Amino acid sequence: MKMKKKIEITVSLEVIQKSEWSKEDRSLIERAIHAVEHAHAPYSNFMVGTALLLDNGQIFSANNQENVSFPVGICAERAVLSYAMGNFPNNRPVKLAVVAKRRSDSTWATVTPCGLCRQTINEYEVKFGHPIEILMLNPGEEILKASGIDQLLPFRFNDLNS
Ligand code: THU
Repeated sequence: MKMKKKIEITVSLEVIQKSEWSKEDRSLIERAIHAVEHAHAPYSNFMVGTALLLDNGQIFSANNQENVSFPVGICAERAVLSYAMGNFPNNRPVKLAVVAKRRSDSTWATVTPCGLCRQTINEYEVKFGHPIEILMLNPGEEILKASGIDQLLPFRFNDLNS
């Protein structure tokens, strides 16, 4: 019998307990947590905060900005990347932290970047030829760390010419 040909990709995330967070990761998460409070999420009540570290040491933060016309709203990750890349186009994004909470909850919600945001992160990895680390806070206050977008977006579309 003919074996079916397969292409397989294995992905992995590192799980980092709070006691083991690096100083850099901690400060990025703290900036994202601060940004959650200013989310404009009156429709979903799902508030997302993000912080982006650039290679010049600058950190920018943003949050989701929803709209009464739902598709007009923008996710926190694309908001921060648009701002940072629009203003500092020559500074490579190093790592991106994402945190989320439901308005009525006191614990963190599980969050990973949506498909549009994954494709956007991919764009800047390709632009700079370097992976961007993605840190996601989980409800147990652990960081889930992806070493790059390939861990969240396997089989990604990143080349018009291949
Ligand atoms: N959202 C983000 O901002 N980032 C994510 O990673 C997940 C989803 C926003 C979009 C919308 O405003 C709300 O969360 C609910 O989907």
